[in-house]
Amino acid sequence: MRLDKYLSDMGVGTRSELKKDIRKGGVSVDGEVIKDPGHSVGVSSRVVFKGHEIVYEEFVYYMLNKPAGIISASEDDREETVIDLIPEPKRRNLFPVGRLDRDTEGLLLITNDGALSHRLLSPKHHVDKVYYAEVTGMLNESDVELFRQGLVLSDGLECMPADLKILSVFEEEYSSEAEITIREGKFHQVKRMFDAVGAEVTYLKRLSMGPLTLDPDLEPGESRRLTPEELETLGI
Ligand code: URA
Repeated sequence: MRLDKYLSDMGVGTRSELKKDIRKGGVSVDGEVIKDPGHSVGVSSRVVFKGHEIVYEEFVYYMLNKPAGIISASEDDREETVIDLIPEPKRRNLFPVGRLDRDTEGLLLITNDGALSHRLLSPKHHVDKVYYAEVTGMLNESDVELFRQGLVLSDGLECMPADLKILSVFEEEYSSEAEITIREGKFHQVKRMFDAVGAEVTYLKRLSMGPLTLDPDLEPGESRRLTPEELETLGI
């Protein structure tokens, strides 16, 4: 591929900025200064940009602890998105794997790997997603049973069986804490499922998605690259 594309794919600048940097002699390939932006390079070339070696990686994978108040979109003209929270130089084509509501927190995978995203989101694959929820009302065993059987939402939509684990019930506050595991990803699914049993979600956080579990060391808004072990669990 062209040298300027190699560098822009790696997020170090725009194609036009990079053309100028290359012409000025800021880039070497395999130890030789190259001033032609169209110079052909490959993944095994040693490319050094302003003193830093830039290794070509086709795909990148980040775990983000999404904070409340941020939208799960790739870009937006007016609002900050989850992609803006990734601190490293911006790679092109990053997107969140699925969406969390603006007020939902927790695990969000950010990548440019469309095939992985398809595998995790495809309704055929029934990937488990675990959420921690705080809700109004006092959950009980009959709610667990209704979730287990597969709830019918207010608009008639039938949900697959889901696991509801009641963590605490606060009689005085008339509220409950629970963990819920769902295997599909319909719009506002968790909130609508609780709504179907007369409870309102007041706080929602995704704890895991398939084999990926939210790193407890990540504060809301923080992200990190997936580890080699995590990548392996995803079959990468
Ligand atoms: N279910 C919801 O209702 N909201 C989310 O953000 C995720 C799952």
